[in-house]
Amino acid sequence: MPKPKFYLTTPIYYVNARPHIGHTYTTIVADTIARYKRMRGFDAVLLTGTDEHGQKVEQSARAAGKGPQEFADEVAADYRQLWQTLGLDYDRFLRTTEPRHAKAVQTIFQAVEKAGYIRKGKYEGQYCVFDELYVTDATPEGNCPECGRPTQRVEEENYFFQLSAFQDKLLAHYEKHPEFIRPESRRNEVRSFVRGGLRDLSISRSRLRWGIPLPGREGHVFYVWFDALTSYMSGIGYGAEGAAAEEYRRLWPADLHLVGKEIVRFHAVYWPAFLMAAGLPLPKMIFAHGWWVFEQQKMSKSRGNIVRPQPIHQVLGTDALRYFLLREMVFGQDSSFSYDALLTRYNSDLANGYGNLASRTLTMIGRYFNGEVPKPDERTKIDQQVAAAAEKTLGSFQQRFDDYDFSRGLEAVWTLIAALNKYLVETQPWVLAEDKKQRARLSTVLWTAAEGLRIVTALLAPVMPAATAQVWKQLGLTGNPAATKLDDLAWGQFPPATRIGKIEPVFPRLDKKQAIKKIQQLEAEEFAAQTAAAQPTARKGGSVAEVEQTRISIEDFAKVEMRVGEVKSAERVAGANKLLKLLVDIGSETRQIVAGIAETYSPEQLLGKKIVVVVNLQPRKLRGVESNGMLVAASVGADGRPVLATFAEDVEVGARLK
Ligand code: MSP
Repeated sequence: MPKPKFYLTTPIYYVNARPHIGHTYTTIVADTIARYKRMRGFDAVLLTGTDEHGQKVEQSARAAGKGPQEFADEVAADYRQLWQTLGLDYDRFLRTTEPRHAKAVQTIFQAVEKAGYIRKGKYEGQYCVFDELYVTDATPEGNCPECGRPTQRVEEENYFFQLSAFQDKLLAHYEKHPEFIRPESRRNEVRSFVRGGLRDLSISRSRLRWGIPLPGREGHVFYVWFDALTSYMSGIGYGAEGAAAEEYRRLWPADLHLVGKEIVRFHAVYWPAFLMAAGLPLPKMIFAHGWWVFEQQKMSKSRGNIVRPQPIHQVLGTDALRYFLLREMVFGQDSSFSYDALLTRYNSDLANGYGNLASRTLTMIGRYFNGEVPKPDERTKIDQQVAAAAEKTLGSFQQRFDDYDFSRGLEAVWTLIAALNKYLVETQPWVLAEDKKQRARLSTVLWTAAEGLRIVTALLAPVMPAATAQVWKQLGLTGNPAATKLDDLAWGQFPPATRIGKIEPVFPRLDKKQAIKKIQQLEAEEFAAQTAAAQPTARKGGSVAEVEQTRISIEDFAKVEMRVGEVKSAERVAGANKLLKLLVDIGSETRQIVAGIAETYSPEQLLGKKIVVVVNLQPRKLRGVESNGMLVAASVGADGRPVLATFAEDVEVGARLK
């Protein structure tokens, strides 16, 4: 019998910024679910990818002095590299700039159009570039209700999708399939949004070039969300011919779309409506998780409150990060990220809990039985209690993980780990070992501990693939714990006459303060490297088409307010080699600005210097220090060394540059 399939997806990530812990979290969850489903006997296929079109990407590319494709290539490569470094195993990766994807988007559009759900119309109103959203309910100040950023007024001829025709059908679908949107809170939110009435949705853009062309409509490209959502199908062969489309036929509809809560509307309203219109089956479930919040706010590049996964990976390893993220966040709710909590869990749950259980059990088997796992003898009440605890954990773990309740599932495993550690304390095998008459009892105790460790290790395999593989090997078990069929896992199956392997601690205890310091240091280095990489590189005569594509209007330029500033003080930012903190007089006020120029300029060199400051940027934090403005500098040479823009003549402080 072929295995049942389980097809799941992460959102495809925007390439306008580099990945952080938030993106990593969704991918870690998806990777864990795929591994877990495989252990449950499914043929799991995981798709991830990158969302590369739209105004936001175009703008970020321009800011980095690059063409959008070149820029997208770099960031998409960064994503893949990161997933590889972290050992995250996706099966399919889709980039929306791939030709196979364009073909799929055009195919689905044609199906929707043929069914009569597309009409031409005019859009006049506000637009939020950040969310790529037409804003019908801007705040009184004209800001986007989703992200709070200022919106732009636009007027354009568009093609509209008749979303309004799907209100009842969507509501009926939510009713009939309560599991379609999870958790319940999101389902309620979506239902009341749809009940409030649906307007038709513009799915083409004529002002934008960086997108997939509408077939037969010169000058129009697809709205990024129509484009992006289709990736879930194009990534497995939708729109392809013959054999290439086989996988699509086998895998679609998706069993699970994992998303963050901010994009639930696109997935639970627009996406099913597009699919209904095209006559295609709907995904089975959309699970919207909460946000990782850092320093009280959702992580975002513009706020500067970002945590990157690489430094944590370097200091604690990926398994510890995976464990922490899955254990700490109640799936579906927001959770606040802190290094302190990360290290506390590392030391208490991993080093003292699981790691300690493994090293004690293995060391005693090595010492008292010369490395061969003993056979159990008669079992007493305390041994039976441990077996019962293990059986209970086996059941509750699966129940929780089937329900995507990772935090409680892991809690159940840690209840068993605690019971096993307590069992060792109470049975005192080191005392039994002193008495020859207790040999049979000692055998039972250490067999029980080894069997408990085997079960814990198999259950944790989807969450901590590397560490569990190591412990498995140290226990002398063959193969990989991930190959265990969870349905067959039961107490009492430890293979007889097993010899343990070489013992090496999996989670050595760490000094909390030092570890945090190390992570933060690495983070500062990483940040500096990324800041340097994001600096515009000197353009070496880009092609005419490229220059055309990145031209802006005089109105766009006028939005940037630059003034002459004078440096009043300068000092280094602790822990960041590249950063200087400056106080700059810009005429009307003195601003604190953090600039990545410390490798080129000493603080003394800058005192009294007249420089160019962009004064109307939103403030952001760099290494925890608020920066309120930006210095203008040329980026020189291959390493992008900054050279500050200054004046040939003396100029008045505060004068505007035009
Ligand atoms: N490109 C769209 C998705 C299109 S899917 C057809 C997009 N991309 S994104 O790069 O902004 O990624 C958003 C996703 O990253 C969220 O939905 C979530 O999965 C993850 N996260 C980004 N920041 C996050 C947190 N601070 N916390 C948790 N997850 C977050 O939206």
